Amino acid sequence: MGTFHPSWLYGPFPGWGELRGTQRDGWLTDHVVLDQQSLVPVPDQLSFEEAATLPCAALTAWSAVAGVGPGDTLLVQGSGGVSVFALQFARLAGARVVATTSDDDKAERLRALGAADIVNYKETPRWGAQVRELTNGGARRVLEIGGAGTLPQSIEAVAYGGQIALVGNLASGNDMDVTHFFRRAATLRSISVGSRSDFEQMNEALGRSRLRPVVDRVFPFNQASEAFAHFERGPRFGKVVISH
Ligand SMILES: NC(=O)c1ccc[n+]([C@@H]2O[C@H](COP(=O)([O-])OP(=O)(O)OC[C@H]3O[C@@H](n4cnc5c(N)ncnc54)[C@H](OP(=O)(O)O)[C@@H]3O)[C@@H](O)[C@H]2O)c1
Repeated sequence: MGTFHPSWLYGPFPGWGELRGTQRDGWLTDHVVLDQQSLVPVPDQLSFEEAATLPCAALTAWSAVAGVGPGDTLLVQGSGGVSVFALQFARLAGARVVATTSDDDKAERLRALGAADIVNYKETPRWGAQVRELTNGGARRVLEIGGAGTLPQSIEAVAYGGQIALVGNLASGNDMDVTHFFRRAATLRSISVGSRSDFEQMNEALGRSRLRPVVDRVFPFNQASEAFAHFERGPRFGKVVISH
């Protein structure tokens, strides 16, 4: 598997190098020449299609939930690739998970993966207060997927002294109440996927736990454009894969 940040091997984030799929050519190709430092082995129990879900979504979730354990509650937003992995990792670590989603069928699937409580963020636009109630004073950790548009609710939902991991910016908006954030004495931490070393540690945990990624659908290489259309339109749950 290729690493997301080809030149971030270990330690703190060193800044943006050249990323595959942006500054460098991506993976939608027959052949690719790579620096061996930007490759890690596929965990034994996984297919190539399952492994394809790991370098970005899984590692981002792994970095965002680092340190979560028994007695903690993690709030995840929606049922996209990163959130589903975060739910799986947090359950593996013995934490309780509360999830938001816009869809009742997806709510059932999140429950089946181990979410203790689900809040529909379309039916309950002020879902932060409901999460606070369900968790008796707020979630210790929050996985922020909506970004600017959902931060006000995440600040409502986070426990005193808790942490919000800023991962995505899918929801537009700009009403973060800094005073309210101060009152929570919380930490806002931004995530940029993870290093090669983080990736290797995650893969070891995957090997030990036999956790399987949730793959929504696999498209053959010659239907790559259909895969992108499906990714955009949905409905989907977890990761969409293009198979070589
Ligand atoms: N910082 C990083 O290192 C990093 C790495 C990877 C991805 N990202 C970013 O993280 C975000 C999520 O990535 P992904 O791959 O998981 O995306 P994805 O699979 O496209 O996630 C889509 C899902 O997000 C949920 N969602 C959308 N708007 C929402 C809202 N306002 N409130 C709650 N949930 C909402 C929806 O869940 P329901 O259908 O259940 O409602 C939707 O199905 C993207 O912005 C992506 O660019 C950041």
